[in-house]
Amino acid sequence: MTKLQVEGLSAFYGQSQALRGLTLELSGGEVLCLLGRNGAGKTTALKAIMGTVPPSSGRLVLDGRELTGLPPQEIPRAGIGYVPQGRRLFTELTVWENLEIGLMTRKTGREALEHALELFPVLRERMQQRSGTLSGGEQTMLAMARAMCLNPSVIMLDEPTEGLMPSAIAGIREAVIRLRSEGVAILLVEQRVDAVLPVADRVAFMDHGEIKAELPIAEVRANPDLLHHYVGIAARPARPATC
Ligand SMILES: Nc1ncnc2c1ncn2[C@@H]1O[C@H](COP(=O)(O)OP(=O)(O)OP(=O)(O)O)[C@@H](O)[C@H]1O
Ligand SMILES: [Mg+2]
Repeated sequence: MTKLQVEGLSAFYGQSQALRGLTLELSGGEVLCLLGRNGAGKTTALKAIMGTVPPSSGRLVLDGRELTGLPPQEIPRAGIGYVPQGRRLFTELTVWENLEIGLMTRKTGREALEHALELFPVLRERMQQRSGTLSGGEQTMLAMARAMCLNPSVIMLDEPTEGLMPSAIAGIREAVIRLRSEGVAILLVEQRVDAVLPVADRVAFMDHGEIKAELPIAEVRANPDLLHHYVGIAARPARPATC
């Protein structure tokens, strides 16, 4: 079974330390949620794992293979898929061309593509559409499908539900649940607690570049005040949760 180990990962922007010794373990078939306020360092954590923000120290190991210090293009090739915050598609390229990039990265074949399209059938009808003209929800689906074209053992998603309607959020949630059931290890960054609680197995609370606490979801549910403490969210939403 997949096992991702992140040990003591730190990263700086110039003189400013944005990540302070990130340590986590993630297994296949598990969803770990990284929660934290704006600027807590969630995106930096994912970028440090992907190597696009080079870590100043720490280790990254996937299934016993040392990935520490590999150039950024090697991390997806090792089987770590990434859905960046704001999706970062090649908006001038078509849906198909975006997916092709995923397929070429790891030289995966038709099966990986079919699997992604089975999860997001709407993309089938839009293969020749320029991806910048897709709706927000469709763009997120494409970003996820592109990551799935790697046939990844780990997928990291950075606020995939940001700015989406409840119906699109539900679709993303279903896809996460399906990937988990297929044994993919999922690291999910979110600010929306209502999007996290139904899918997370564990929650790591991040603040000032550090994980301050990591708890099983049952404990978070039993102590909603934790959410207020770590992410400044009221324990009881004013409106009923929409998802
Ligand atoms: N390219 C950069 N150059 C300098 N500082 C940066 C850069 N990117 C992020 N930072 C800083 O690093 C800190 C962590 O930012 P990061 O984007 O990781 O936070 P985040 O938890 O993802 O926030 P959000 O929830 O708003 O997406 C912030 O103080 C941010 O201003
Ligand atoms: Mg972020």
